[in-house]
Amino acid sequence: MLQEKIVLLSDGAKKLAECRETTQQVASEMGFNGQDLWGIVSAVFEACVNALTHGRQQGREPVMLILRAFDDRLEAVVKDRGKGFACPPAVAMPPVSSMRGRGIPLMKSFMDDMKVESGDGCIVTLVKYKEPVSGPRALS
Ligand SMILES: Nc1ncnc2c1ncn2[C@@H]1O[C@H](COP(=O)(O)OP(=O)(O)O)[C@@H](O)[C@H]1O
Ligand SMILES: [Mg+2]
Repeated sequence: MLQEKIVLLSDGAKKLAECRETTQQVASEMGFNGQDLWGIVSAVFEACVNALTHGRQQGREPVMLILRAFDDRLEAVVKDRGKGFACPPAVAMPPVSSMRGRGIPLMKSFMDDMKVESGDGCIVTLVKYKEPVSGPRALS
């Protein structure tokens, strides 16, 4: 691993700007730019917002973003203490009039892999490869 950065969202929404800034910094240092960079920041932001809004029963549990830069890929891991959820393999964008439900389709379309582990809290892992991939790559 080349670099690891951690953002603790202990005070919730106030830290969301830091999530975006840190994601942008790590991804651009890796050479991502343009639409890829915008997509990575947007996808990681959606995962963090979801962890804060859906992953906290008391509204105060910590949420953590871990960004890991590897030679070939960026991994963003978002951890919350909630019950988790079953992430469907494919999700259609909701109708234009819908106010909800765009986070997961957005994450899946901008990132190369998305994995959700539910059990002892929820762990959402998003992966973007430096070289474009044609189809989704399985996370081992
Ligand atoms: N971290 C999470 N913990 C629990 N449930 C989640 C989490 N992230 C997403 N979900 C579930 O997946 C659904 C879809 O998420 P998303 O596409 O971002 O839409 P929205 O957040 O607008 O509802 C959420 O409504 C929620 O039920
Ligand atoms: Mg959402």
